[in-house]
Amino acid sequence: MGTPRVIIPLDVSSAEAALKLVVTLAPHVDSFKVGLQLTGRIGLPVAVKIVRDHGGKCLVDHKLHDIPNTVVEAVQAIVDHGASAFTIHASAGPEVLQAAAKVKGNVKMYAVTVLTSMDTMECLMLYKDSPEMTVRHLAEVALAAGADGIICSPKEVALLRQTFGLNFLIITPGVRPSWASTDDQSRIMTPGDAIKAGADFLVVGRPITQPPTAIGSSLDAVQCVNEEIRLALET
Ligand code: C5P
Repeated sequence: MGTPRVIIPLDVSSAEAALKLVVTLAPHVDSFKVGLQLTGRIGLPVAVKIVRDHGGKCLVDHKLHDIPNTVVEAVQAIVDHGASAFTIHASAGPEVLQAAAKVKGNVKMYAVTVLTSMDTMECLMLYKDSPEMTVRHLAEVALAAGADGIICSPKEVALLRQTFGLNFLIITPGVRPSWASTDDQSRIMTPGDAIKAGADFLVVGRPITQPPTAIGSSLDAVQCVNEEIRLALET
């Protein structure tokens, strides 16, 4: 296997369920993402510790969006707990992003652009522009303010690479293998196509944590996704 590119969201509600996924999948993935579903139940320090104790890297996906002082305090806590990365909304604005960048040290800061559950109509209603143009604008703001990477749908990856080049990381949720159901995701692509478009890391949740019976276990599912990524990188 080459460098792992999959990030597993620990979208579960107990330490036991998180531990089971971490122990099973850690050797096969880049990192684990902990969000409000898990940290709201077991707390951020415990969630990060479960991942780190089993050799995993932990991305804290709290999608920060607040005034600069509050965000700085939240980032300092995330850094102190030993996370490897965190997310922040690009729409929090340059002042907030710059303040977070100043205190993050080596921890990677990823800016969330337009949520992958949002379709074109909703995006037009909210931002008065298409997902592509909105993502491009928010990414420009975030990269100028010191973000290490951008979170967007796989559909916007090629545009971001064309516009801003290769010198930043892209994580894409909204990834669905052809054998998985789309669930509540809207702007989706397969793992192979997302990698070919230029994504560095793919967040793949339910297709791996709750795989269809025909695929088998979570371990079988992650191996299928890794194989699809390997083939995409070869072509
Ligand atoms: O199960 P699924 O693959 O849909 O999980 C996607 C994960 O990525 C969830 O944890 C969700 O919160 C997160 N996410 C997303 N869209 C974004 C940013 C994060 O779906 N724009």
